Amino acid sequence: MALNNEHIKWFRDSSPYIDAHRDRTFVICLTGDALRSANLKNIVSDCALLNSLGVRLILVFNGDSAILEALGDEWSLSGQHRITTPEQIETVTAVVGGKTHELAAMFAASSPDTPTALNKTRREVLTSSGSFVKARPIGIVDGIDFQNSGNVRKVQGDAIAAQLNNGAVVLVPPVGYSPSGEIFYLDAIQIACETACELNAEKLIFLTQHEGLLNEAGETINEVDLSHPEPALSTGTELLPFCHVACQQGVGRCHILSYDVDGALLEELFTRDGCGTQVVGHSYEQIRDATTDDVAGILRLISPLEDAGILVKRSRERLESEIDRFLVIERDGLLISCGALYPYHCSEKGGFGELACLVTHPDYRKSDRGDRLLESVEKRAREDGLSNLFVLTTQSAHWFQERGFVARDRDTLPQARQALYNDQRGSTVLVKPL
Ligand SMILES: CC(C)(COP(=O)(O)OP(=O)(O)OC[C@H]1O[C@@H](n2cnc3c(N)ncnc32)[C@H](O)[C@@H]1OP(=O)(O)O)[C@@H](O)C(=O)NCCC(=O)NCCS
Repeated sequence: MALNNEHIKWFRDSSPYIDAHRDRTFVICLTGDALRSANLKNIVSDCALLNSLGVRLILVFNGDSAILEALGDEWSLSGQHRITTPEQIETVTAVVGGKTHELAAMFAASSPDTPTALNKTRREVLTSSGSFVKARPIGIVDGIDFQNSGNVRKVQGDAIAAQLNNGAVVLVPPVGYSPSGEIFYLDAIQIACETACELNAEKLIFLTQHEGLLNEAGETINEVDLSHPEPALSTGTELLPFCHVACQQGVGRCHILSYDVDGALLEELFTRDGCGTQVVGHSYEQIRDATTDDVAGILRLISPLEDAGILVKRSRERLESEIDRFLVIERDGLLISCGALYPYHCSEKGGFGELACLVTHPDYRKSDRGDRLLESVEKRAREDGLSNLFVLTTQSAHWFQERGFVARDRDTLPQARQALYNDQRGSTVLVKPL
């Protein structure tokens, strides 16, 4: 029987992401006209698939076009905010209530399994919605009374978590309630951001009309690193402040994708390159290039491992001369992780990069810092035009193998590196194609 090798490869390539996403919390925000997109059914279906893979999912939506249709131009805008009168809020709640039911019905009808009435094992996707957001009025700004338009006061994280623990997809409409019992229309983007922060979400995903953040030439920017100066953008500037807040409060990543492109969510979440814009920011704990000021800190980090024979000894002088090969993670002024990249451009084998000296301080291990450093070293190696990354290790082979490195003979290495191989150490050679 002929096998569909492409499908098998795709499935195998996706499996690390399936593992990585399981039990993680993702907040997805449908912005703009997403509820009217012809692709909405597919988005809901993909959300149902994520739910079946163990992702804890919260879907925040705005109902702006539907509300506008119901209220007409009388639902006025001042700056970025709508002015919602007490009479209009009744229509708003009716419209968004209807939208919540429509979404719930779409989830009920969508299933990652074959959706046939005969399929008795079909797993239904549970949804849950409720009064998860406390609100307060925007009040009077520059003489304009925003009445029943409000800001998020608090997201009831525990209540949402309880629903997620039950396996439900949580639907959050753009309304909130004040302790005095008033109802307020809220901005969905603000709700999504606050929810992601409150629940320590791994991802905050904005589905927008554009295929990510676009630069001034109209091209999608693959990644924005908030610890660097912001690139000039032609879209999405209103989203970046929320990404800043989310990343600063510990949300792992923000993503900006198109709601019109079928499969964009899956492509972004299950492939290395994704298809939209990934926004990262670890300003509280940045990965950065090392400088000569870091030599002492790196020595403190690596010396115990050198003494234990886990790493090859490096003199202070050598470290100083090679300092620009190093990346470090600093926390509260302390270096807690480091790693280095040594490139070997060799004519017969192409570009190889050696990942060396990857260390996390014992007190800070098991929090993905090794992974983040590896990711940065790989990125730097690709930027340097290298096509393979290799590492020589005596005690951490499994760590690297679990991250896509494969054991190879030492003659796979560039000649210049083979000549330096230390037979006494007998390190395992592991290679990862980039
Ligand atoms: C390997 C190392 C850099 C990982 O750092 P980290 O910041 O803890 O990395 P991560 O959080 O991304 O990974 C932690 C995971 O790796 C596992 N791990 C740690 N060391 C490992 C090893 N030697 N072999 C296999 N797995 C290992 C941990 O158990 C943890 O797995 P878990 O989440 O399933 O419990 C760190 O353990 C270290 O400094 N080791 C000593 C130096 C070394 O051997 N460097 C590699 C050679 S250059």
